[in-house]
Amino acid sequence: MRSLTQASLKPVWVPPSRAVPSLAEDVLAGLFEPPRRLPPKYFYDAHGSLLFDRICRTTEYYPTRTELGLLQRHAADIVELTRPATLVEFGSGSYAKARLLVGACATRQLRPLYAPFDVCADVLTDSGLALRREFPWLAVEPLVGDFTAGLDHVPLRPGRRLLMFLGGTIGNFDAGEAEAFLTEVCGLLQEDDYLLLGADRVKSPAVLHAAYNDRSGITARFNLNVLSVLNTALGADFDLSHFAHRAHYDVQAERIEMYLDSLVDQRVGFRRLGRTLELQAGESILTEISRKFTTASLTAMLRTAGLRIVRHFESEGPLFSLVLAARGDV
Ligand code: AVJ
Repeated sequence: MRSLTQASLKPVWVPPSRAVPSLAEDVLAGLFEPPRRLPPKYFYDAHGSLLFDRICRTTEYYPTRTELGLLQRHAADIVELTRPATLVEFGSGSYAKARLLVGACATRQLRPLYAPFDVCADVLTDSGLALRREFPWLAVEPLVGDFTAGLDHVPLRPGRRLLMFLGGTIGNFDAGEAEAFLTEVCGLLQEDDYLLLGADRVKSPAVLHAAYNDRSGITARFNLNVLSVLNTALGADFDLSHFAHRAHYDVQAERIEMYLDSLVDQRVGFRRLGRTLELQAGESILTEISRKFTTASLTAMLRTAGLRIVRHFESEGPLFSLVLAARGDV
């Protein structure tokens, strides 16, 4: 039984459509001269993923629970409108959100295939198994790969598809990256297919500031953890106590910027790169941007990618948005 269950959860490797920089390349290009920066995708090693789950449970970090609330309220509408044969989820950290959509499908006698797409095969298998405990009929096809490396080789079954990109992760991309990614997503859509996009909203700077500076300091640990990732992967010798977490909301740019500030003049060795990084006290490394949207900026972003909004579900506030989009030309 067990082997059968696991065999049918065997991850499918999605080959990249184009080369993406390695960690070493990203570090060499981003860290050794100002403005110093690191891509946020490196936060999520096993420990970083645990810390992110804990962020989601802090009182200050409203996006996760707000988006879940929206899904609870609107999953039935979404399924009614989209009637998916396949649910594809990009960056499916946790299955809590997919669960609500699968449940809404089940109520309507729909039996979709669930295809979570992530870099980490273990996460995918675990969430697939967990979902199957609740929905024993559920076919799960975990897709393993880097969806920022292109979507040309995503194996998709025939029938209506609902693609999902939730959590507000679109905000980690700058305008150009977001447009490029959404354009690729649009390229996967057929006439009756939909994209369900989660996006965080522009709101009071105080609320945003609190969400990225939780009082128990979990976001700070999450931010600092990227240095441990570099220590492990590149033989670097970052001393985490020599850095401080800083997150601030840029009102003009409508985005959170998260930094690690060097607290002292320091030299950091990278054994695997044969390089030493020199940092002065007060110098900073940009580790993440998290863009916030208005209805207008969301509409414009989707339009430039060839998409149109079919339904817009927003929470009280509005704190957070779930947008159901389709190809703009049909
Ligand atoms: C997972 C990218 C949506 O930008 O809010 C949370 C990551 N960073 N706290 C976000 C994050 C700091 C999160 N996303």
